[in-house]
Amino acid sequence: MNIVWTTSEAAPYAKTGGLADVSYSLPYALAENGHNVSVFMPYYPQVMADKCDDTECVYELLGVPFGDNNEEWASIRRHKISANLSFYFIEFNRFFDRPKLYDWEGCEYADNAERFIFLSRAIMQAILALKIKVDVLHTNDWHTALCNVYIKSELYKNYTNFDGTKSVITIHNIGYQGVFNKANLYWTGLSWDYFNFHCLEFFDQLNFLKAGVLLADMVTTVSPTYAEEILSAEYGFDLEHSLQHCAAQGKLRGIINGIDTQEWNPEIDPLIPANFSAESITGKALCKADLQKEFGLTVRPDVPLYGVVSRLATQKGLDVFIESIEEMLEYDDVQFVVIGSGDKWQESALANFARAYPNRFGAHIGYNNRLAHMVEAGADFFVMPSRYEPCGLNQMYSMKYGTLPIVRATGGLADTVINYSPENIENATGFTFYDLYPSALRDTMRWAASIYLTNKADINAMIENGMTTDFSWHHTATEYEALYQQANKSPLVKTKKI
Ligand code: ADP
Ligand code: GLC
Repeated sequence: MNIVWTTSEAAPYAKTGGLADVSYSLPYALAENGHNVSVFMPYYPQVMADKCDDTECVYELLGVPFGDNNEEWASIRRHKISANLSFYFIEFNRFFDRPKLYDWEGCEYADNAERFIFLSRAIMQAILALKIKVDVLHTNDWHTALCNVYIKSELYKNYTNFDGTKSVITIHNIGYQGVFNKANLYWTGLSWDYFNFHCLEFFDQLNFLKAGVLLADMVTTVSPTYAEEILSAEYGFDLEHSLQHCAAQGKLRGIINGIDTQEWNPEIDPLIPANFSAESITGKALCKADLQKEFGLTVRPDVPLYGVVSRLATQKGLDVFIESIEEMLEYDDVQFVVIGSGDKWQESALANFARAYPNRFGAHIGYNNRLAHMVEAGADFFVMPSRYEPCGLNQMYSMKYGTLPIVRATGGLADTVINYSPENIENATGFTFYDLYPSALRDTMRWAASIYLTNKADINAMIENGMTTDFSWHHTATEYEALYQQANKSPLVKTKKI
């Protein structure tokens, strides 16, 4: 199949979170299975400077209609990974030559609606310019969701490139929907007919994710549990009714992500001080000592060490973590290392802990991939108290590194971590809790520590269970292939007439 994958970020080029990991690994896995995959994303010169200097310009003057009677000129660069996998970058400096992808100092760029309308339109134009015949158009999150609308619109539906194309949208995070003032419809080139309840209209504003979801042939999200959760008012962020409609049509699926087992593999990881595996785990003790040294903690093999690597956003529940650990720092013999950035209140609370308890609490405020690998390898436990978690990758990385996850049982965390009890020690891979209260999290962290100190056999069994679980992309890619094939065979869904 010819698959076009659209995204606002992909690792290693530009990354703020898991979407970037998925946008490299899944296209890669699909290409390995023999499909032709073209990934489209923006060219962010400031962010990508050192990450891909070997892109070639494959199209210099790409005309992109933008607003009434107006055309802008972009270029297309390419990074060819293999004969059937290429990353294409839309180069348009007015919108993408920025120090960060979406915001500056925590404030979203004021022209984000224009930036991503432009990206979506430019991708559609690029497909025509590069003469790609598309079997599957797979968009991700709100940034390129308009492509699912364009492909059904009179602007593109008659091009032979899109004959028989099925469109798929994946929701990686429903907390971000691309909601903007309706005046921005002007930039899309779409008429006001599209500003209706069955398409872009959302409480008198534009909602790009909603329109993408309603017009796509298939909607996926990144875990089966999250696919159910988003049908409820608690997790749906006001899109639950649109999603219930999709579910009733049979076009909503939850497919769990995989992980990149080349990048996240303790046997070959060059970013950790000692490599190790399930068969030979001694190197993990060295990683722990090195992590303790790096953060100025007392170097002790016996003390339970909890790690966190996270965006500091409401979604991740670290406000609850901050509340829960004060008592532990006061009374328990434990250590913590946290890597994260985002919310300013959380950043300073974590930095304060590091100042107040320098031998037991280490913090790095910022984004640092090397330290992220060191935490995965060196900690005993990895804490993810997420309010909601569509999939989550870190819990899978940590299981691969023999670091036991302590997670709130929601979304992908519920689908990937098997809770400990002595009776299911054959399967257990971590510790889970349900209520997002500081006391529930604290009790679970203490429970994990008590097993660590008193029952090494069960801890070792869990470590082995996690390290030997197959989280590779293989299964995920196969599920997406089946979904594409199913979408291609049948006119699955009749979308409402716009
Ligand atoms: P999300 O995409 O919601 O942030 P995921 O668990 O899917 O959550 O993916 C997060 C990814 O971002 C992981 O690869 C994780 O290691 C990385 N990450 C998050 N924060 C940091 C940080 N401060 N430094 C390094 N890597 C980080
Ligand atoms: C989002 C979600 C995260 C998921 C990632 C990749 O950022 O918050 O849970 O793992 O996308 O799908």
